[in-house]
Amino acid sequence: MPRTVKKNKAPYPDPDPVSVRRRLLAWYDAQGRDLPWRYKNGERPDPYRVWLSEIMLAQTTVATVKGYFEEFLRRWPKLADLAAADQNDVLHAWQGLGYYARARNLHKCARVLVAKKNGCFPDTEEDLRQLPGVGDYTAAAIAAIAFGRKSTPVDANIERVTARLFAIDVPLPGAQGGIKGVIKEQARTLTPAPRGRPGDFAQAMMDLGATLCSPNNPDCPACPLKSACLAEKTGAAERYPVKPAKKPRPVRHGMVFWAVRGDGAVLLRQRPEKGLLGGMMEIPSTQWRGKAWTAKEAAASAPVQGDWRTLDGVIRHTFTHFHLELTVLVGAVNGQETENGLWSPPSEFSDHALPTVMKKIARLVASYSS
Ligand code: ADE
Repeated sequence: MPRTVKKNKAPYPDPDPVSVRRRLLAWYDAQGRDLPWRYKNGERPDPYRVWLSEIMLAQTTVATVKGYFEEFLRRWPKLADLAAADQNDVLHAWQGLGYYARARNLHKCARVLVAKKNGCFPDTEEDLRQLPGVGDYTAAAIAAIAFGRKSTPVDANIERVTARLFAIDVPLPGAQGGIKGVIKEQARTLTPAPRGRPGDFAQAMMDLGATLCSPNNPDCPACPLKSACLAEKTGAAERYPVKPAKKPRPVRHGMVFWAVRGDGAVLLRQRPEKGLLGGMMEIPSTQWRGKAWTAKEAAASAPVQGDWRTLDGVIRHTFTHFHLELTVLVGAVNGQETENGLWSPPSEFSDHALPTVMKKIARLVASYSS
């Protein structure tokens, strides 16, 4: 593997992995969080529980996941129970965790394992990565936590802890994978061998990042790794990881169709599985593009025929890559069937997976009628 790692410019040696492992595991044994999917004191982990928790945690906070994890286990205590479940029941139970594609893959993965692998999870990172919905991070996390493999999952917490320990600022020119690649490579140098508890070590790194080594206000004096940490020696650990210069975000414009049926129900539509807000529900709109729309021009994209009236006010929402500005058109319509559409009274919107930007639209419309 090409050597891409930063040169240590600090007048201190790189942290000693042996000492980092020893100190961090001692801290984890004493102060690691008690979480429902955790196995402490050398218990043998159940791969089903590890997999379920890691899929849920991939894009959601620990606080949110706890309740869902327990409810899933209550309803489907074993992998075979989940595989036998109706997909709609799984999707419904997932509601609130976002991204239904993940729930569909979760269910598919359970079925594949039961049908083709005798209900057993593979025990290597490479084989785990072949399963539906299991990406690089999740495969490494399951391999380490459930099977004690020397694997290195790198989530945002581990990324931050590693960048600070090694004071990683910018990668050498041409470093593969940019600064994230460099951080991963350094993180791997810390991972203990199987008898050194790699699963606990990964979770200890996560816990340190989620508690003491927080993004803006790290509690360095309390940190078990302070004597090794190069960023702490700079006196400004919060500067790490260095963030890439932000690209200016373009503004995109769209017009939203608030189509109301005689009984007050409003048209919602499911977004395509792939892409932004994949599989979630939306209030139908035109495309989101660089040029602003006129109401007349937008009407050609309406999902149903309507007599559209423009509401005052603009809804603003920022996504990772762009700012969005939406104008709302309201129309009374006769509620015909539409592709991927359903009719719901606004009072029942919470039954559907509506992303925040769509809730902002509903609030603007409600402010007119109240
Ligand atoms: N985030 C992702 N996986 C986690 C785990 N096993 N423990 C705590 N936080 C996590």
